[in-house]
Amino acid sequence: MGEINMVPSNPTVNKLCERLKELHDEVKEWLPGINRIAVALYDRETDMLKTFISSTDDGNPLDHYQAELSKVRSLKEMSLSRTNRTINDISVLASSGSEHTKKLLEKGYLSSHTVPIVHNDEFHGFVFFDASEINYFSESAVHNLDVYAQLVGLLCVSEFNAIRTLRAAVKTAREISHYRDEETGFHLIRMANFSRIIALELADKHNLSDEFIEFLFNFAPLHDIGKIAIPDNILLKQGALSEEERTTMQTHVFKGAEIVEKLINGFNMETMPKIDMLKNIVLYHHEAMDGSGYPQGLSGKNIPIEARIVSVSDVFDALTSVRPYKKAWTNDDAFAFIKEKSPDIFDAECVSALIRQRQQVEKIQKRFSEDVFG
Ligand SMILES: [Fe+2]
Ligand SMILES: [Fe+2]
Repeated sequence: MGEINMVPSNPTVNKLCERLKELHDEVKEWLPGINRIAVALYDRETDMLKTFISSTDDGNPLDHYQAELSKVRSLKEMSLSRTNRTINDISVLASSGSEHTKKLLEKGYLSSHTVPIVHNDEFHGFVFFDASEINYFSESAVHNLDVYAQLVGLLCVSEFNAIRTLRAAVKTAREISHYRDEETGFHLIRMANFSRIIALELADKHNLSDEFIEFLFNFAPLHDIGKIAIPDNILLKQGALSEEERTTMQTHVFKGAEIVEKLINGFNMETMPKIDMLKNIVLYHHEAMDGSGYPQGLSGKNIPIEARIVSVSDVFDALTSVRPYKKAWTNDDAFAFIKEKSPDIFDAECVSALIRQRQQVEKIQKRFSEDVFG
């Protein structure tokens, strides 16, 4: 225990993006007019299409962009029909007024080709190719690009398959153990979405890429996996824990890091990207800004940002949820509480980011409410 040496994950290092840039360079050898290749990923639970990675010749016009797929009709149709689409002149769409069309035109992109990512009969998102000439995408160009699009799509999907496998393994472990109460229901989905909301708010200031945010969103629900190794008599105890029991309970962060380590080795996931981020979340989500948290008593910026974000979103959702021992707090009370506990316990930036995005928070709460059956 405690032997795990952590390296803080670096939000700016971004392997998948580098691979996309290499592919982009290759494509440009025979189609030099393609200025941008971008991938947006789809989350079925929230119906959200989110920018993920991109390679552009000059900056990125669509960072941290998201839209509900059902509200973007042309893309929604493509996701259902699973067919490609070429737009020969984007400027004719200018009057449609959509934000992303406007941004593309601002950057001088005049034509585009879009391919849905479909893997195992499931729709995962889109690959976009953009060029600064009208009518750039001839039939033969499109044919070759589709091969690349499949490759790019597969690259992205396979990264997330590893995480899915990991989450499925954890879910099974949870079902075998008795640790189910807090982690069933929508707690994990909500706290993952709150983490994403905070990260998007902090993205510019902290240089968090869309790729970083997407991994955070996928890893956040694993924060308490170590609890499957805590004995039931402590985990399920009604009422206050003794000093000794509390100490045992706190070991869930080390146990979690050990489980991650074992799963990674067992599933040959050593090459899984951002694995340090997952370990940081598991190990440090109970640290406090003033150093009074556990397991290492890290303080301030020494606590990795992913752990600072998850600790706010996790506690906020715990407060606003019903638990066997308490009623659900109102959002006002929960916001007031986390604000009062910052900057000593929680990162004040994360707290104000969540409060600023109250509307989005409430949208997620409404969508994933425990009161709604069926
Ligand atoms: Fe925890
Ligand atoms: Fe939690």
